[in-house]
Amino acid sequence: MNHKPYILFLLISVLSCEKDDMYVPVKSLYEEGEEFLTGNLGVNATSGEAFGFEILGLTEIQQVSFGTGNSLFSQNWVSAPASTTARDGLGPTFNARACANCHFKDGRGSPLVNGQNSSGFLMRISLPGQDANGNAIPVPNYGEQIQDRSNFGIPFEAKVNVSYDNIYGFYADGTTYELRNPTYTFTEQQYGSLSGVETSPRIATQTIGLGLIDALPDAEILKFVDEFDSNNDGISGRANYTYDIESNTQKMGRYGWKANVATLKQQVASAFHGDMGLTSSLFTENNCPTPQQDCFDAPSGGELEVTDTQLDRVTFYQATLAVPNRRNFQEESVLKGRKLFNEMNCISCHATNQKTGSSKFTPLLDDTRIRPYSDFLLHDMGEALADNRSDFLATGQEWRTQPLWGIGLIDAVNNHTFLLHDGRARNIEEAILWHGGEADNSKLSFKNLSAEDRQNVLDFINSL
Ligand code: HEC
Ligand code: HEC
Repeated sequence: MNHKPYILFLLISVLSCEKDDMYVPVKSLYEEGEEFLTGNLGVNATSGEAFGFEILGLTEIQQVSFGTGNSLFSQNWVSAPASTTARDGLGPTFNARACANCHFKDGRGSPLVNGQNSSGFLMRISLPGQDANGNAIPVPNYGEQIQDRSNFGIPFEAKVNVSYDNIYGFYADGTTYELRNPTYTFTEQQYGSLSGVETSPRIATQTIGLGLIDALPDAEILKFVDEFDSNNDGISGRANYTYDIESNTQKMGRYGWKANVATLKQQVASAFHGDMGLTSSLFTENNCPTPQQDCFDAPSGGELEVTDTQLDRVTFYQATLAVPNRRNFQEESVLKGRKLFNEMNCISCHATNQKTGSSKFTPLLDDTRIRPYSDFLLHDMGEALADNRSDFLATGQEWRTQPLWGIGLIDAVNNHTFLLHDGRARNIEEAILWHGGEADNSKLSFKNLSAEDRQNVLDFINSL
């Protein structure tokens, strides 16, 4: 009997079957609408302007507010007295002249470069302990943040410097990798030594989707809490509660790398105050801790340097910046990467499917299902990422899960891929390899993947 045709037939059917197995199920992983991270509010944008668009559907009046907010965010503020009184009052000490110097094109700031002005970096400082509101204890003579620049004739506070050590490691398949571990030091300290103070280096984030985060009912964040890890996956997560100046109460923190600010308005007002030296109705005193007498005596830009209208415009602008829709979402590697992302439990912290309630900014943001890839909770991320400085309830090892929406466009907008709270990771792969603590198991799963599967995960994250 001649077996040849039979064997050939078998071979062909095995091959084609294998092809089907690989192909069809991957495509079927696609979930209808998964590319829309913010329902119908997203924009299709891939250019360097991708983070700068407003959500669809603003009224004409709202578009004017958005536009005014945009220019107050983008343009430089000047020191008082000045002819442009609408934008004067900068300093006396500050970190940057415009929001957009740090959030360039509404995007991600760059890490510290020694001797250069900040393009997104700032250093928080404090003494151990907390005040009655849970806030960090200011460092005498300096306050809670190093202002490394100042107006003419007034001393800045100090300069911050960084140096990096290399850390080496390898994947399960033997491939080696290298991470860079930062150490920060102070020089030119104008008001006494800063050695021994607690420090927290931070990088400016892309400011997209913030109105949706504001519109999440507390319960939509609390649903992910598993403080005592009752499901035994090693991942707990808890909310930060911070001091809200406007209501004089404790509220759930949502913004900042440690969920250290509760409301968008306070986040914006504190940026005006801490980063640019501008007073507003939320922060009425100039930021000049005693004994900074020259700072204290310097001319101010009026009683409130940022008016309530200006504060509201910038806050509205921040609230209505759209999240770009995903790209390449039906590519095979991206779909496989998403499956791995779920299997490795990344999704337990980088969570999706929250629903907004009603927004104080615009009803357009109401009742929207979102995929921020964040639970907005605090997680212990291990010693390697720790800043060892507490921030309200957040310990020195805890960080808020950073939303991953927009992450794949940072390169297009900001021309770099530095990630994590201080920009130490040079790309997505390094960011994952820094994960520890509650995320240790996820990181180990990633390290055990084949090179091809690791690339699939990166392709997926780049599609966000
Ligand atoms: C010196 C650089 C710098 C300047 C100037 C600056 N920011 Fe920021 N911004 C940051 C950093 C760093 C963070 C993270 C802060 C933290 O974790 O506490 C941040 C966080 C934010 C956030 C929270 C984003 C999030 O995802 O939680 C908003 C909103 C924001 N900034 C708005 C502004 C506005 C508005 C201005 C101008 C009034 C401004 N920033 C000026 C560096 C800057
Ligand atoms: C226990 C919660 C947790 C788990 C699990 C987790 N992450 Fe994260 N992730 C975080 C936190 C918190 C940060 C911010 C840490 C920091 O900046 O120090 C972060 C940051 C990131 C960043 C950088 C974001 C940015 O914009 O700078 C990426 C990329 C990332 N995670 C991917 C992953 C992937 C992939 C996995 C699974 C292998 C994963 N994460 C698992 C909590 C988690």
